[in-house]
Parts: sequence; C-alpha cells; structure tokens
Amino acid sequence: MNDGEIVELSSEFANIYSVEDGERILREPELVTETMEAAQKGGFDHFMLKEIYEQPQVARELIHLYEKSEDLDDVIGALKQAKNIYFIGCGTSYNACVSGAVFFNRIANRAVFPVAATQFMAQYHQSISSEDIGIFVSQSGETKDVLNAVEIAKKRGMRIYSLVNVVGSTLTKKSEIWLPLACGYEISVPATKTFTNQLIAFLYLAYRMGDKSLDDFDKLPDLMENEIKKSTSIVQKALPFVQDWNDLYCLGYGLSFPIALEGALKLKEITYSHCEGMLSTEFKHGPLAAVTNRYPVIFVSTLNDIPLIISGINEVTCRGGFAIAVGPENENLRANANYLIPVTKSTDEISSILSVIPLQLISYYMCLARGFDPDFPRNLSKTLTVD
Ligand code: G6P
Repeated sequence: MNDGEIVELSSEFANIYSVEDGERILREPELVTETMEAAQKGGFDHFMLKEIYEQPQVARELIHLYEKSEDLDDVIGALKQAKNIYFIGCGTSYNACVSGAVFFNRIANRAVFPVAATQFMAQYHQSISSEDIGIFVSQSGETKDVLNAVEIAKKRGMRIYSLVNVVGSTLTKKSEIWLPLACGYEISVPATKTFTNQLIAFLYLAYRMGDKSLDDFDKLPDLMENEIKKSTSIVQKALPFVQDWNDLYCLGYGLSFPIALEGALKLKEITYSHCEGMLSTEFKHGPLAAVTNRYPVIFVSTLNDIPLIISGINEVTCRGGFAIAVGPENENLRANANYLIPVTKSTDEISSILSVIPLQLISYYMCLARGFDPDFPRNLSKTLTVD
C-alpha cells in the first residue's frame, strides 16, 4: 500500500481504495517470498536470540548477493564521482552509518558525513546539491524521520540511495537505487541481524571503493558463527558485574566507537538500565565523576586501539570502577581490565563487527535476568512512523 490508501481485507479479497475520493485502486499484487517458518521462533525462547543466531547465515547470503550483483558497479562508480557522501539513519541504523563512515575513511580514503536523520536538515540542508549522494539506511524503510530527510534531500536535488531490509517499503520506492540487507523478517524490536548486515554492506562498499581485496570478507560469516558459540558462556559469567546496575557506560574509540553506541542502545532498549555509549577518550572530560565502587564500564576495543583503551580502563579502575573489556585476546588488555570478553583476532574492521555480538548477548541475558521480554520492550515499537 501507499500513503493515502485504505484496504478492505477478507479471506477472499483485498481491495484498495483512495482515502481522498473513495475510488477503488487497481494494482498488480507483489509476491512475498518469505515463509511462515521465518515468522516463528523455531525452537528459540525469543525472536531476539533467534535473530542473533541467524546473523552468520544472513551475512553469508548478503555477501554472496553483493559479490554477484552487477548493479553494484554503477553504485561504486557513482560514489567515486560524488562530491559529498552522506549516510543517514536513526537508532541502530544511525550507529551503522557511523561505522560506515569509519570504514570509508580507513579503507577507501574517503570522508563521509554520518548523520542522524532529524539533524540532517539543520546541519546540512543548505549545503547539499545534485553532486552529492545520500545513502539512507533503514531496516523498515518506513521510519518517518528518515523519510522526512529524503524529502528535504530530494528538493535540493541530492541523489537518493538506500540500504533497506523490507522490500517494497516506502524508502525503496523513493530511492533512485536501493540495496537490500537481505535479512528476512526481523521481528524482535531490538535490531541485531540488520545491524550486522548494514555494517557488512558498508564494509563491502568501502572495499570496492578502495579497490581492495575481498578475501578477509568471505571469512566473516564463519567467524561470526564461532563468536556466538564461544561468547555465550563468557557473557553469562559477566552478568553479576552488571545486572543490578541501573546506570553504566559502554565506551569505544575509532572503529569500536559506533559499536559501543550500539551496545549501549541494546542495553537501554531491553534492560531498562541507562547505558550511555560514548567515545572512550571523552569519558575523562566529565562522566568519570560517575564512577564509584564497582561501577561498571564496558570498553570495546580493536587490536590497534588497545593502548588507548587501556589508558581509559586505568582511569576507571583506579577509582574503584569495574572495567569489562570486549576486544581481541591480549595479555595487556586482560591484565588491565577486571573482566575480558575475548573477540576473535582479525582485521580491525572485521573484529569491530564481531565485537557487537557479545554486546547483543549481554543485553539479551541481562534483560532475562531482570525479568523483561526482549522482543517487545515497553514504550518502543519496531517502526516509528511518526515525527
Ligand atoms: C525505532 C526502533 C529502533 C530502530 C529505529 C530505526 O526507534 O525501535 O530499534 O533502530 O526505529 O529503525 P529503521 O527501521 O529506520 O532502521
């Protein structure tokens, strides 16, 4: 359906009418290829856990899809030519935009502006032109804040590309080119598999933009599978350090900064504990005052950033705080943090993607420990179609 339409639905027919004049609208139906099985929990206690476990498989499918897609050559060509590139989204999709911008800088030497959709107008509206490309990122393709930003961008002539999970959504219809996330249904309110596939999509584009080899990339789904298997028990052992706190931080730097934002968002969404995600280097400029005895601070690190992250860890632990590190197995990191959740060693880009998995699992198990339903958290909805 499009905006301004109403449907009369029965087991025999579905008639669409215009809200404005009541006239019947005739349209060819589109076939939804998902099965009913995809909309069931399939033996898992919650959709969230099922969707966490589906990440390696949907990653594999996305990589396969992109590697054989010829359309992507045009996308890469256009991005190379663009004057400015913007990545625009809300919530989890915004966090993926920040990761995407770091990937583009590191791998393709290309500066990108990641921006929350509602801030797009205030911050960039006067500066954009037809020489620019915006990649609008949305799981649902229906988030009103994102669609508003699309309208503004269109009026300025900007080229509208998008990265969307729901086929046939409004955003796909409003885009010149849309790239699929290929995750199937994501039913649980907290986004998981769509976040990792958004990161994979951006990483793929960055590799292609930078004319780099895709070898590391193909190993990613297997590494993700291994990460899920090995993290669960380690994460469960960390629960006593966090689960009773109504206030904590999740910090990262560089590639792990957006991962920390996403880890904090997951915790807030389903544990109802206030978890602030921020740059580890900013923590000492104020928030450090919050640290008391055993106050939990989660640090996410990639291999190259370990020395800087350790300096942040020491600021916390010397004041009695409790530092949980999520990063590659490393002697110094293990020695300085109070608890280490090791992430498989790989390139920094790949390990940044892997490190979100333990954070998703911490949120999931902490939510259960606090007696809440991760799939349907209070006050939130999967798709926000209001301003
Ligand atoms: C809502 C959901 C979030 C989601 C955000 C953006 O606020 O609760 O989980 O990240 O919308 O959704 P989108 O569908 O645009 O990615």
